[in-house]
Parts: sequence; structure tokens; C-alpha cells
Amino acid sequence: MAPAEAIPPANTTTTTPFTGAAASGAFTTTPTAIDPYTYQVGFGNHFASEALTGALPIGYNTPQRYAYNLISEQLNVFTPTNGNVEFTLQDLGLKTITGHGNSMAKEGLAVYIYLANKLIEKRAFCNNNGDILILPQEGRLDIQTEFGKLMVLPGELVVIQAGIKFSVRMPDGAGRGYIQEVFRAHYELPKLGPVGSNGMAQPRDFKTPVASFKVDQSEWTVVVKLVGKLFTYNQGHTPFNVVAWHGNYTPYNDPSIYCQVACNTFRPPYYHRNVCTEIMGMVCGKWALSGSLEPGGLTYEPSYMPHGEGQELWKQATSVELVPQRVGEGSMAFMMHISAHVSLTKYALKRCANLQKMQVVGRIEPPLYSWEKISCAVGRHDYYNVKPQNGE
Ligand SMILES: [Fe+2]
Repeated sequence: MAPAEAIPPANTTTTTPFTGAAASGAFTTTPTAIDPYTYQVGFGNHFASEALTGALPIGYNTPQRYAYNLISEQLNVFTPTNGNVEFTLQDLGLKTITGHGNSMAKEGLAVYIYLANKLIEKRAFCNNNGDILILPQEGRLDIQTEFGKLMVLPGELVVIQAGIKFSVRMPDGAGRGYIQEVFRAHYELPKLGPVGSNGMAQPRDFKTPVASFKVDQSEWTVVVKLVGKLFTYNQGHTPFNVVAWHGNYTPYNDPSIYCQVACNTFRPPYYHRNVCTEIMGMVCGKWALSGSLEPGGLTYEPSYMPHGEGQELWKQATSVELVPQRVGEGSMAFMMHISAHVSLTKYALKRCANLQKMQVVGRIEPPLYSWEKISCAVGRHDYYNVKPQNGE
């Protein structure tokens, strides 16, 4: 980063000519009032970070002696030997909505909704099942990981890989949101094409924490999730004691930038059938096109089941004057495209769902899609009606 004095502040003029500047460090983000942490930027990078100068050994991983009398540990992606990530049911209402496969075989995924209220002190979580992607819908998540700290706002997402210990504070009080857990693969950034298929998240939009540690020799409990079960063990120090690290297996968050540019285009999503199952939710605002999807809710479209907008909207969209317009302002939705067939849980169908047999009236003629569309809005949950129950 260039020395600050070489950069004139924005919105000011200066008569001082630039005389040149040299970078003195890698780019990191600037803390803000709602996110006090600093991040490195990029996706899939090999990063390096040290909270104490000289803590990271240069050139090799296992010198005989480390600076500050530190010891080293490896977290291997292919054969994770330790790691804990998860919320416990005491501080998090976690309900399974849908999924497929099983974590024992490392095949498949699961989708959850969560309600969280408070941090249980001296407790960390580690999910050995797989990587988790968290989408807060209400309430920021102040996450301490072994690799550093992340503040995740509603409208952003965070990915915490399997085997990484973390704990979550709720700086805004109670919160809720969505979690997707994948048992096998790691998340990748899709090829974007000329403007991207639906969005244009760029690698540099993703933020990775910098090393941050504490000295804490008190008793801690680590809750580990493995093959769908929770285990605990105690240790005599905080798990967040990593002074320096390097590698590419690090948690990250993303502001979910969304932008689409088009002309001479039928703008609403046309009627379609997907090989993928669609799980869609609202973070905020209103889904402008149709239906009953509210913030905190989810919709489910099974593979190859036809769905889209009705005839009235089709008429409107095909006759409206095409002028530049902002759409979806104040709202944010997300879509999980899942290549496998997934089934809804008993909880989603019986205790949570607002299962709707969508009327086929108003479909575009000719009736290409003559069978009844089944859609449901699940997961609209509040702080009072979600009671975690095992076995659902
Ligand atoms: Fe769709």
C-alpha cells in the first residue's frame, strides 16, 4: 500500500504534484463503523498473514525453533484431522430444511435455517462434516476463526471450511439466516462469461481475514460436528491462538455484488424448467415479480418442474417501453442451484412450510406446461416458533 501522504483525500484538490510512491505492503481493506476488521482480498489465493512481525517462518514450514517460541500446525484440506465448526443447539436454533446424500460418504449437501441469540463464552464450534456457507438475513455475525476475524452483514455471505474452529457473536442481538453445508467439494467461483450469467462477483470482492490471536489459558469447550452428530472436548486454552498462517484454506466473506446489464430483453425470468433444484430465499425487501416469498423465507422448485411468471406479467413485460430502470431496489434475494435432487424435511413440510399448489391460471398459451406446478415457501420463521427437535 502506498504511504498515505502520497494519496490526496477524495473530494479535495491539491496543487502538490505527485512525486512517486512505492508500495510498502499488500492491499488490505479499510475498517468501517459496521465492520471494524481488516481483510486481504481475492478468491482461491494463497494468502499469508502474521499478527506479530516475524512470526511466519520464511522458506519452510518446520524450522527447529520458531520466533516467539511458537509451534506449528498443519490443516490439510484432503485429510482434515481436526477442526470444529458449528453452532450448538444451545445458542443456535438450527433446523434442516432440505438436502441429499450423507456426510458419512462425503456426498451431498444440506440447507438449514438458523436463529441465533447469544454467544456461549469459552465455546467454539467446528464442522468436520463439510464446508458451510452462511447467509445472515437479520443481524450481523461477528465471527472469530482460527485465521482471524470476519464481520458478516445481512446481504453478505461467509464460507467457513470443514475443520476450522470458530465462534460467533451477535453484535446486533438476535439474528437469523440461512446455511448451506456441502459434504464433499469446496466452493468455487463460476466462469463469468462476458458479463456473467446472473451476477458479477469478482475474485477481489472476496475478503479473507488477517491473523488475530489471543492469549487465553482458560478452559474452553470445542463442539465438533461429525457425520451429523455433535461431540465435545475441553482444552485448557483458546482455540483462537494462531499467530501467523499461510495457505489457501481460509474462511472468506463476500458482499454479494449483483449487477446485470441488458437491452432489448424480456426482463422477468421466462418460464423455465431446470435440471437444477432451485432453493431461493429473501434477505430483505420484496420479491417484485410474484408470490409469497418474504424475507427469512425459502422457496423450493424441484428439478425440471416448470415455473416462471404468469400471463399478466408476460403481457406487461412484452409491451412496456424499454427504458433504463433500476429493479429490485432495496431488496436482495439469493438462489441455490443444486444439481442433485433434494427432498424437503418433515420440519419443512409439516411444521414450517406454507405449501402451495400454485394455480396454473395465467400461464402463457399455448399450454406448454400442463401439469400442476408445486411450489412451497418454507422456512419463514420467527424467534418464537422455531424449537429445535432432533430427528427432523
Ligand atoms: Fe427458476
